[in-house]
Amino acid sequence: MTHPQTPPAVTLSQDELKTQVGHAALRYVIAGEIVGVGTGSTVNKFIDALAGIKDQIKGAVSSSVASTERLQALGITVFDSNDVAELSVYIDGADEIDHQGYMVKGGGAALTREKIVAAQSRQFVCIADESKLVQTLGKYPLPVEVIPMAVQRIKRLFEAMGAQAKLRLKGDAPLMTDNGQHILDVTGLNITDPLAFETQVSQWPGVVTVGVFAHQKAQVCLLGTASGVKTLTF
Ligand code: A5P
Repeated sequence: MTHPQTPPAVTLSQDELKTQVGHAALRYVIAGEIVGVGTGSTVNKFIDALAGIKDQIKGAVSSSVASTERLQALGITVFDSNDVAELSVYIDGADEIDHQGYMVKGGGAALTREKIVAAQSRQFVCIADESKLVQTLGKYPLPVEVIPMAVQRIKRLFEAMGAQAKLRLKGDAPLMTDNGQHILDVTGLNITDPLAFETQVSQWPGVVTVGVFAHQKAQVCLLGTASGVKTLTF
């Protein structure tokens, strides 16, 4: 009697999972249109895949200097966000995503431009490996872009919530974002109501952008897993 062959278990690295979802995102790109492009190591895989179909699209609106440089190096035209009224789709990674499509973003310090491009897009497609899927947001240090003169006051406001905010450094100096501002990384949070939290912190004077994406949540998440790409819809 012959036994059916069980294929050997394949363990994909996190990098391979990112490549998988980067390629899977191509099916959301609409021929002849401009696509919104996020920032980060997962999006870099998407940009590399997008280069393969660059003749079928008009170009991209980018969420960071780093993504702009990568897109242009691959021959993809980058449009100024001000010159494009609306995008059909925005494709970006996340540091955390929950089961409602709410996210924490900004690990790469690009959260402000990411939120702007997400807001001008009809659909947010999040691409992430399965390590990013969480029950409740807040374990990953929450990035908050702040105006330098407000750093200490905003730190105190987070402390009053029972959290700790740390100024992100690059070398010995505070990191400067593409917008010339600083980043606070906030730990000790358990964000049970992402919409309310985003609304509250966004109103603090000196906060440019809070890295909770609840008002600009994902509608789709392409999640890279050991058994292939899973599509979650919210
Ligand atoms: C960039 O500022 C972030 O919002 C990224 O989208 C997020 O940090 C995910 O990055 P990776 O794809 O590199 O994990």
